[in-house]
Amino acid sequence: MDILAIESSCDETAAAVIRDGREIISSVVATQIEEHKLYGGVVPEIASRRHCESIVGVVSEALEKAGKTAAEVDAIAVSYAPGLIGALLVGVNFAKGLALSLGKPLIPVHHIRGHIAANYLAHPELEPPYICLIVSGSHSHIVKVNGYTDFEIVGQTVDDAAGEAFDKAARAMGYPYPGGVHIDKAAQSGDRKKYQLPHPHTANQYDFSFSGLKTAVINLIHNAKQKGEEIDVNSLAACFQYTVSDILTTKFIQAAKESGYKTLALAGGVAANSGLRTMLEQRAQYNGMTVYVPPISLCGDNAAMIGCQAFYEYQAGHVAGADLNAVATMRLDSVTW
Ligand code: KG4
Ligand code: ZN
Repeated sequence: MDILAIESSCDETAAAVIRDGREIISSVVATQIEEHKLYGGVVPEIASRRHCESIVGVVSEALEKAGKTAAEVDAIAVSYAPGLIGALLVGVNFAKGLALSLGKPLIPVHHIRGHIAANYLAHPELEPPYICLIVSGSHSHIVKVNGYTDFEIVGQTVDDAAGEAFDKAARAMGYPYPGGVHIDKAAQSGDRKKYQLPHPHTANQYDFSFSGLKTAVINLIHNAKQKGEEIDVNSLAACFQYTVSDILTTKFIQAAKESGYKTLALAGGVAANSGLRTMLEQRAQYNGMTVYVPPISLCGDNAAMIGCQAFYEYQAGHVAGADLNAVATMRLDSVTW
């Protein structure tokens, strides 16, 4: 089954053709980052307008690279929740129009479920059940993946997402948006023991809180400036990255132990972080667990992961009608459309 998938939930317009949920026939991602960089973050209205301009070209390129016409694919899938509402609406309406005009099934895909599915594209042997840590620009979740469309949230952030904390801390350090990757690079030549950063407490031991940690970095920089002291940015980046990775992996490994899972997966934009990947792999190995991480190219937003999850949603009978709408906020364990 060949699925044409569309993704437009934030600042990437993407389309892909995926075969039987596991094989990437083509994948095209048009990023808007350079434009949002000017404003220090994603400007929702600009994002919607750029999706409008790019979507025809991106979808055409994905079909062309796959050597197919739209009439030759078996279904159309779209990321419809959660995300920026104006941005999502562009993809949803485009997919809806295409599905209706071609008489193809329309498969609604939850964006975070898509991030989790990115691992299936890289690891043919990976199948549920397993436990997954999803860390992106707007989400941080520990989720039991009991089946391809059966999820149970174990913990989530109570304030900032991990990626959001990376981006805000990076901004305070003087890096452009999105700052996660700059912290990652700077951390490689820093001393992670140079600064003391807090490990914020949460009522549920598997929830996360990154707001206090981000504020601690901002205050540290502010206080140093007031005193005329130099900040060793590489070391601050290393301390921040180590602390976030330590919080994420400690809770994730503990959740896996408590629920008896030996198979772990990492997903989302922050899964590209080298410190987090290494720490999780080492700690998982130490605990006799297997950890799957997506290749860097599938960590950030893309449509291949949407096409992958769509295959399993379709098998579960999840097909939308002409009244499909975009939804800004939706839990991944209780989807509706
Ligand atoms: O999944 P994603 O592309 O978009 C959302 O669905 O939110 O995640 C984007 C986030 C940004 O916050 C970005 O800074 C972060 O992923 N990110 C990283 C790295 N690469 C991307 N954070 C830390 N280290 C990285 N190497
Ligand atoms: Zn995402």
